[in-house]
Formats: sequence, structure tokens, C-alpha cells
Amino acid sequence: MSKFKQSVTRNQKYIQELKSSEERLALMKDELHKLSSKSDLEQEENQNHNHNDNDLLKYFENNPGRLIFKWMHYFEIYDRYFSRFRNREVHVVEIGVAQGGSLQMWKKYFGDYAYIYGVDINKRSKRFEEERIKIIIGEQQNRNFLRQMKNQCPRIDILIDDGGHRMLQQINTFEELFPHISENGVYLCEDLHTSYWPQHGGGYRNPNSFIEYSKTLIDKLVRFVSSRNS
Ligand SMILES: C[S@@+](CC[C@H](N)C(=O)[O-])C[C@H]1O[C@@H](n2cnc3c(N)ncnc32)[C@H](O)[C@@H]1O
Repeated sequence: MSKFKQSVTRNQKYIQELKSSEERLALMKDELHKLSSKSDLEQEENQNHNHNDNDLLKYFENNPGRLIFKWMHYFEIYDRYFSRFRNREVHVVEIGVAQGGSLQMWKKYFGDYAYIYGVDINKRSKRFEEERIKIIIGEQQNRNFLRQMKNQCPRIDILIDDGGHRMLQQINTFEELFPHISENGVYLCEDLHTSYWPQHGGGYRNPNSFIEYSKTLIDKLVRFVSSRNS
């Protein structure tokens, strides 16, 4: 075979490889898009959500109840992902009760068919129980506690982790309770900046942090999708 012919064949092979990897990439993109865009669900989230009419933020700003500890920039996110559950039967768990103010806020926001469960390590939190607000006492790092919690909360549509914000607490809670969340439910873990705080078990690129744990989950998801298309 002449040198020229050899190089043409090599180029053709190269172009073919390039084409098939482009095709694979396109397929992967498509699969990931399908996985991430929940179509109807996403549309519902966007329809219900109106930046200028955030009832949760209004409640927080005029708080008629007990003290609430939340960051202002969370309210846009809460309303975007939670508004589709309003005025329907919804079971909401919040880990971290503090003064009980956020539990009252969820109850008002979600409406008359909402059941709110607050979870806290502090036994004194029990005093914040009221109609449709139940308090469960326990340590969120303890897997046995989390497993038996499922009996007390047989249905969880929304879980908000606003507890101790330490790495093992967030990871154990996620591993035990994420599989228990209803289909199309929402799992929200707050204060992820502690993933960068050594005193909370985190640190920049610390493999034990919740952020690095989450990145690994994303890697696994992408690897799974790409292996189906290769
Ligand atoms: C940030 S405060 C919760 C604020 C509340 N959600 C609000 O928005 O008003 C954190 C709460 O988590 C509780 N907590 C801390 N470590 C915990 C653990 N390991 N298990 C369960 N609760 C914990 C604390 O007792 C405290 O009440």
C-alpha cells in the first residue's frame, strides 16, 4: 500500500472514530437531558413559581409565629420546588427544629392538608408540637434511629435537612431516607457551605464532605448513562 493510501485510510478511520464518539456524546446528552428535565414536573414548577409573589418569603418577613432561622436566598428555591405541593396532602419532614418557627411556616404555606414532622436531638423540642406538627426526638447521624423513623413517617414527600450540618449527619440521613422519599418528591439539604469547614468534618476537596459525596453520585450517574450508550 502506498504511503498516500495508508494516510487516507488512517484519516478515514480517524473520521469514523470521531463521528461515532460524537454520536455517542449526542446520545449521552439526550439521555441526561431526559433524566434531568422532568418535563411535566418541571413545567409545573415553573408555572406555579412567581418571583414577585412568594408567600413563603412574605410569611418570613412578617413572621407571626416563633423564631425562624433561614437564609434569605433560600426562599426563591423553596418556593420554586415546593409550590406544586401546596393545598394538597403533603408530608413534610424537617430535621432541625430549633424554636419551631420554620415548622409553623411550612404548615401555613402548604395549607390544611399538610402534615409536618420536626426531628431534633433536643428533647425540649417536643414542646413545639401542635395540630399537624409532630416532633420526633433523635440523632440524625444514627442509622438505627433513621430506619425506625420510617415507621413514624411512612410517607415523606419533602425532606429538609437543617439539622447539625455535619458530614456524617448529612450523608447518613441521605442514605437512609432518600430511598424513602415519594416518587417526584423533593430532598433538600441546607447549609452545604459546611462541606468546606474542617470543624464540621468538611474541608476543600475533602473526600468525606457532603459536596464531594454528591459529586461522586453525579459521576456514577453519568458513568451509568454513558455505559449504556457505548
Ligand atoms: C439550624 S437549627 C434549625 C433551624 C430551624 N429549622 C429553623 O429554620 O428555624 C439546627 C437544629 O438542629 C438540631 N440538631 C443538631 N444536631 C442534630 C443531630 N445530630 N440530630 C438531630 N438534630 C440535630 C439542633 O438541636 C437545632 O435545633
